[in-house]
Amino acid sequence: MARLTVLLLALLVCGYVPFSDGQCVAGMGMTCILSSLNMATDGVAVLRGIPPRTYYTIKVEKLRLPASPSGAFLTRVSEFTDEVGFDVYYEPTLQLPAGLTLTAVVLYDAKALRQVVIAAGDMNVTDLTIYTCALTSIPATIGNLPLLTDLSIIGCALRNFSFDAFRGNLQLRALDLSDNAIDTILPAKLVDDRALPLAIEMLYLSSNSLEHLDMTALGALTSLTMIDLRFNNLAKVAADRTVTWPALEMLDVSSNQLSTLDLQWLSAPNLKRLVLSSNRFVTIPPRLRRFPNLQMIGLSGNSFTGIDLAPLNALPTLNSIDFSHNPACRYVRSSRPIQLPLLSDLYVEYGALVRFNTAGIDLPTIGFISLAHNNFSTVPPLGQVYPSLDSFDMMGNPLPCGVLKARSEVLLSGKLIMGPPRLSASECPDGSVMIKDPLLLCCKA
Ligand SMILES: *[C@@H]1O[C@H](CO)[C@@H](O)[C@H](O)[C@H]1NC(C)=O
Ligand SMILES: *[C@@H]1O[C@H](CO)[C@@H](O)[C@H](O)[C@H]1NC(C)=O
Ligand SMILES: *[C@@H]1O[C@H](CO)[C@@H](O)[C@H](O)[C@H]1NC(C)=O
Repeated sequence: MARLTVLLLALLVCGYVPFSDGQCVAGMGMTCILSSLNMATDGVAVLRGIPPRTYYTIKVEKLRLPASPSGAFLTRVSEFTDEVGFDVYYEPTLQLPAGLTLTAVVLYDAKALRQVVIAAGDMNVTDLTIYTCALTSIPATIGNLPLLTDLSIIGCALRNFSFDAFRGNLQLRALDLSDNAIDTILPAKLVDDRALPLAIEMLYLSSNSLEHLDMTALGALTSLTMIDLRFNNLAKVAADRTVTWPALEMLDVSSNQLSTLDLQWLSAPNLKRLVLSSNRFVTIPPRLRRFPNLQMIGLSGNSFTGIDLAPLNALPTLNSIDFSHNPACRYVRSSRPIQLPLLSDLYVEYGALVRFNTAGIDLPTIGFISLAHNNFSTVPPLGQVYPSLDSFDMMGNPLPCGVLKARSEVLLSGKLIMGPPRLSASECPDGSVMIKDPLLLCCKA
């Protein structure tokens, strides 16, 4: 059964291929482009004819095959290459035969793919990537790839999985299951009920359908450095016992439905970045002092009506916080005295701020504060209160012209930023003031 497929076959040329005359058209990036290749006739001879150490990839635009483009075909081309990629893969099944020496297999568009069958036996595959497919579960034979370090099944139809699926993949470092329909991570049983330590460091689960996540399901992932849970429907992230991730540096749960997040179950002494943007938070989550190495907190795009910085007190390494795009947020203050010894950047842009009460907020190393695009009609005394401040941005606030004129010195020194100077008063809908020719600024007349 001959079939004609249009695909990209990216082959890394092995150095020792014997050759006669090649049929390559040279393309960008040291690519040999073959407009067609017929594996039923002279295909192998054409591949052998490609000059060695000349091309980095071979791109085949039309591949004609006597049988499926997986199984024996992959074994065949592994004589010429370490990596194979298909622009379009039309088959319902991908078979990886035993003894395969390929290190990477990539399917960029595999809409019909429902099954991946991996034979037991020597396998050198370290990287398996599948975009856009019909797989509904992690392939049961995935454990036959013991050297696998990177697995991506993106844009497919997965609905659930358990980390038990990867008990044979002890080298797996990066797992990307983004853009599926995963609503459940089933609890892992692993071996003898004892968590088998998996090596997964980077876990991508963005754009799925998770609503309530019990993090104990991820408890076996003791090497995690990054968890990406963006764009789910998470209303709750919890665990009923302590989960310890000694290497975790980043937890990103942005673009979910969270209004609270109590991380008391999480022991992550190296957590540096906590991204909670685009949720429904109205207050800063409690108990962040569990994370003494926290450097960055993202809380933009939430539902704050005012910001009380008190829960951040004494985070020793916090250097950047972003509260921008909280459209109803009217003030910044602290209900208790706080000190943030290393905070250097504070962003509270695009809100409705009218007040920044600096009382009790000690920021000894603050360098930049942006309050751009808020509702201030006075300039808060940030320059006086925080001597370390290089500048603060008040652009896009309805500051009266007289207020700006009175602050000419701070404006001319560059400490107070009001956006780019205007060329003419007609650029300012509500009024303008000449601070000092030619520094013309918009303001509220
Ligand atoms: C495949 O892996 C085996 C075992 O790890 C190794 O000895 C062999 O050299 C690899 N073969 C290729 C072609 O990379
Ligand atoms: C897991 O997904 C499979 C395949 O889509 C489905 O048949 C099964 O009902 C799901 N199980 C759970 C517990 O959600
Ligand atoms: C800004 O403040 C004015 C009164 O000073 C108020 O009328 C207006 O609604 C406020 N705008 C926003 C977006 O809160």
